[in-house]
Amino acid sequence: MDLFQYKNGVLYCEDVPVNSLPERGLPTPFYLYSANTLKTHYQKIYGIFEQLQPMICFSVKSSNNVHLLNELAALGAGMDIVSGGELFVVKQSNADLSKVVFAGVGKSDEEITEAILSEVGFINIESEQELARVQELAGELKREVNVLIRILPDVLDEKTNEKTRTGHKGAKFGIDYANVEALIEENADHPYVKIRGLHSHIGSPISSYTFYVTAIRKMVELVEVLKRKNIRLDVLNIGGGFPANYMDNDNFSWESFAGPITELLEPYVKNEGFKIILEPGRSISANAGIMVCKVLYVKQSGDKNIVILDGGMTELIRPAMYNAFHFIWPVKPQAAHMLTNRNYPVPQEGLITYDVVGPICESSDYLAKERPLPALQQGDYVAVFTVGAYGMVMASNYNLHVRPAEIMVDKDKIYVIRERETQQDLVRKMIRHEL
Ligand code: LLP
Repeated sequence: MDLFQYKNGVLYCEDVPVNSLPERGLPTPFYLYSANTLKTHYQKIYGIFEQLQPMICFSVKSSNNVHLLNELAALGAGMDIVSGGELFVVKQSNADLSKVVFAGVGKSDEEITEAILSEVGFINIESEQELARVQELAGELKREVNVLIRILPDVLDEKTNEKTRTGHKGAKFGIDYANVEALIEENADHPYVKIRGLHSHIGSPISSYTFYVTAIRKMVELVEVLKRKNIRLDVLNIGGGFPANYMDNDNFSWESFAGPITELLEPYVKNEGFKIILEPGRSISANAGIMVCKVLYVKQSGDKNIVILDGGMTELIRPAMYNAFHFIWPVKPQAAHMLTNRNYPVPQEGLITYDVVGPICESSDYLAKERPLPALQQGDYVAVFTVGAYGMVMASNYNLHVRPAEIMVDKDKIYVIRERETQQDLVRKMIRHEL
């Protein structure tokens, strides 16, 4: 359940009526987060997997505002990062660096060095070549570092968008399963680089627990094979990829995932002291954010009704990039279209079918196609839901649009947590100098 609820016909973020923000002069579009949704989701996922005493490393790529990270860090969350930039922001937060896992297929020398010196919990190794480089750098620095080997388990969930699949044969991620045993055997005794366990992340979002089960079975099989060779691992990182609710505001749909995963891993935790790591992003953050836009114009093109918002693909690229569905509804609908629950499809009576588009000069700039909505008028505010993950983090300055503000609500308190960019920001780095 998220805390974006219609009460008496008006959308609230926790205790704050959403329309009060633009009415106070906050320019649209803006991102609006519910701190307590974020925190509740973290606690919920922790509770569901509690028997495993997991280290939950929030996937910073899904949502990277330091103030949101601090909300999670205060609850004990670790962080899953994929770049020096994400390491930098995490170091600005209150997160415990020993609970940081660093993944990514292309870590530079600078990033690896910074991670080693920062004493992050684990570096997830994505190739034989990367392992060799980490060994060289750790050797030069004379510093120990814990690593996990990311296996490529050859698992494919066909329901996952082609662009966000990561576990199938031929993907750029991880190391072919068949080669991992030998790699670990050959590198088990390095003086500085300690291979502590395995990592797998099979895509995002994953539609059923069965795909995790297949990948985890492969991981534990490898643990057993290595055990017989007297090589002991003690960490298993099962990645992220749990879904969010894009169609409604009911409970998490991923509760069903926990049982079978726990069953497989519990003996390793209870009998052998394994540490289990999860890297959820979207399942924690997606439903904790909305984007608020203003209707600029409503027009007709052929037989289509087009509603043009002041936000589009530069603020939220997911519809353009993945054809992703995001629920859209007026912040303050007329009486006939008040919602008590956000459930798609909504009752169709009296609705108009719109293409909901942004102002960018590209046909791919849309937020929804052929979407039944209450009649919209210039100046109306609409909310685009479930954008707390992969929303603002993927925003761009294309067409030289400034990136929007981020606002966080905690009960009745409203905080600006990232100021809207200014046009001056857009040219700040355009500095000509001879090299
Ligand atoms: N761990 C690793 C190694 C990952 O690559 C990812 C996501 C996660 C964890 C977190 O996955 P989550 O729990 O958030 O599903 N931009 C796309 C999603 C890309 C996901 C990339 N990796 C989208 O908007 O759907």
